[in-house]
Parts: sequence; structure tokens; C-alpha cells
Amino acid sequence: MEEKIIYFDNAATSWPKPEHVYKAAENYLRNGGANPGRSGHTRSIHADRLVFETRERAASFLGAGQPEEIIFTLNATDSLNMAIKGVLVPGDHVICTSLEHNSVLRPLGSLSRNGLITTTMISCDSSGYLDTEDLERAIRPDTKLIVCTHASNIIGTVLPVEEISSLAWKKGILFLLDAAQTAGSIPLNLQEIKPHLAAFTGHKGLLGPPGVGLLYVRKGVNIKPWREGGTGSRSEEDRQPEMMPDYLEAGTMNTPGLAGLNEGLKFIEKTGISLITEHESYLARKLRQGLKEIGRVKVFNAGTEHQSVAVVSFVMEGMDSGELGYILEQAYGILCRTGLHCAPHAHRSIGTFPQGTVRFSLGYFNQEEEVEQALEAVKELASRF
Ligand SMILES: Cc1ncc(COP(=O)(O)O)c(C=O)c1O
Repeated sequence: MEEKIIYFDNAATSWPKPEHVYKAAENYLRNGGANPGRSGHTRSIHADRLVFETRERAASFLGAGQPEEIIFTLNATDSLNMAIKGVLVPGDHVICTSLEHNSVLRPLGSLSRNGLITTTMISCDSSGYLDTEDLERAIRPDTKLIVCTHASNIIGTVLPVEEISSLAWKKGILFLLDAAQTAGSIPLNLQEIKPHLAAFTGHKGLLGPPGVGLLYVRKGVNIKPWREGGTGSRSEEDRQPEMMPDYLEAGTMNTPGLAGLNEGLKFIEKTGISLITEHESYLARKLRQGLKEIGRVKVFNAGTEHQSVAVVSFVMEGMDSGELGYILEQAYGILCRTGLHCAPHAHRSIGTFPQGTVRFSLGYFNQEEEVEQALEAVKELASRF
């Protein structure tokens, strides 16, 4: 018998995936299987077409100027590392926010500890919001890069990234957007936000399988490759071909993952991003509201004046978050994430460091009844323990 669960961990990775995502990955593995862009036989050419189609679809969905500005990577962490280590040189100064994920904090931390760069972190307030004036004040003559998450992976707050981007352009600084929590969940257009670089992950809101990420590199941005090797092009040369996307895409790709991502993107296009946003925000509002009404429960949120994605964090007075998460799974089949969620400074900003929170993160496939059942479960626990 199928186990009944409530999956509330979509900010870690989305589940379930649209049916065609599973089918496309399996179909590629069973019936395609060839290495794209390497050999001249039919299957290799088909695989190459599939990769190109996925790149075109992603570029058009995200609003990139051209498909070659989209680079396929392993995940958002890979994209962020490629961007950060690809543009910085010794002596550079970087600004980031306290909401950043460890996939930004750790690369910046290691470059700083090695004495290569300096970093300034701008603290967000307890609703996860950033004052762009604080950011402007932190800009120095040697500031090369601003890195900022589009939305908090803990309380969902969406940051004023258009404002940050226009400030970066005005000051001649590169802007790297971490869109891991927003792409596929809320409308996002690269032509409107205008980052120089943007990191995406294929396995969260874009509904693809794990193992695929995307890096947007605006035409003209000077970036060094993070890995070099076979591309199937210019094989006679011992230097990385300078044309995009080959320049940043050495090595065999995750073609089954890309086949799945292509279907994830098609699903979002067909459903419509506004319907996805509306459904997820409706559930998140209901969840936040319901949790707030339970005594002993404290909910952390963006407040009504800021937009947020469907990520809801809370604590229960007198109860450890890890223990609460464990009981939620064991007694009610609710799968969520507890602790620091790889973003320790964000917890400092909202006052939940080091104990962390319980995070319920919702996706398009969640239903209103699941939110109601989860609220009942938390209510019961609040009255029992
Ligand atoms: C804001 C943010 N950035 C980056 C990442 C890293 O994403 P990935 O697991 O695809 O590397 C995450 C993952 O949770 C995230 O929430």
C-alpha cells in the first residue's frame, strides 16, 4: 500500500514532479542514451537537439536575451561557485546579505580566509527585508560584486532585486542574483531585473530532476571558466573554446536531467506561472494564518508589506524544532525541514540562531486539505506536549 505523506519540503527540492518529467528522463536513458554534441550519429544529434531545445525553453521562460546566455550546471551551488570564482580577482570587495545560503557564504568565506577578497554582509531586518540604503553605503571603490538571494529560503521574503540591480549598474558593479527559491514559483524576468549573472536550480520550482542547475551570464560579462575540458567543439585546440555555452560547459552533461527539466518548464508554461504563484501563495497565507492562531507557536514572516514565496517558518515554545519535525513525520507523515536550512545568518536576522525553525515549504502539487491537516497536527502537538 502506498504510504500517505504530506510533502512540505519543496524549498529543498520539489516533489512530486509532473508525470512527463519522469517519463522524459526514463525515455532518454532507455531509448536515447547518446552523448550530446560529441558524435555524428543520429542519437548524438537527437541528444544535442534535446539540450538545445531545453536551453531555448529556459532562456525564453527566464527572459534571457539569447539561449547561449544560459549555461547548464549541476545545481544552484555549482552556478554560484562558477559565477563567484569566475569573476572575482584578488583585491576585490563583495557585498552580500544576511539572507544568503551557504552556497554563497562558503565560497565567499574561503576566498576571504585565503586573503583574496574582502566581504561586507548587510543585515536584513527581522522580516527578512533589506534596506537598499545600507547596501549603497557599503559600496567602496574596490567593490566588484553584489550577491543577493531573490527570496529567503527560511521565511520567504522577496528582496528588492530590481532596485539592487539598478544600483549595481549605476555604480558599475556586477550583480549576481541567486534565484534558487523563486524561479518557477513567482514571475521572474531577467530583462526586468537585469542581473549580470543569475544562479538557478532545476530541481526546485522548475520541477526538474536533481543534478541540473542553470547559470545566466549576460552577454559581455567577463568570466573565467571554473572547469575546462571536452566540449565536442574545437577539439584540435588545448584551450577552452571561447564561444558560449561551450566556454563554461566542459564535460558530459546530465542529459536525462535536462530532458526532465525541459518537461518541467513545459509544465510551468502550460499551467501558467501566475496560477502557480496564486495557488502557492493562497496555501502559504492559510498556513501562516492558521499557525499564528495556535498558542505557543511563533511564525516568522515577511509581514504584509513585502511579497514572499511559499516558505513558512515557525517555532513552538518549549519544544525543540528538530524534535517537532521528527514527531510531525512519525505521527502525521508530514515531511518538512528543521534547523538552520544552510542559512545561519538569516536565522540571526530573525532571532532564531542557533536553534533554528521548523520550515514548511509548499509547492504547486500541495492541496488545501494538506494545509488543514498540518494545522490540526501542530494544534494537537501544541496542546499535548
Ligand atoms: C537561496 C538558495 N540558494 C542556493 C541553494 C542551493 O541550491 P542547490 O541545492 O540546487 O545547489 C538553495 C537551496 O536550498 C537556496 O535555498
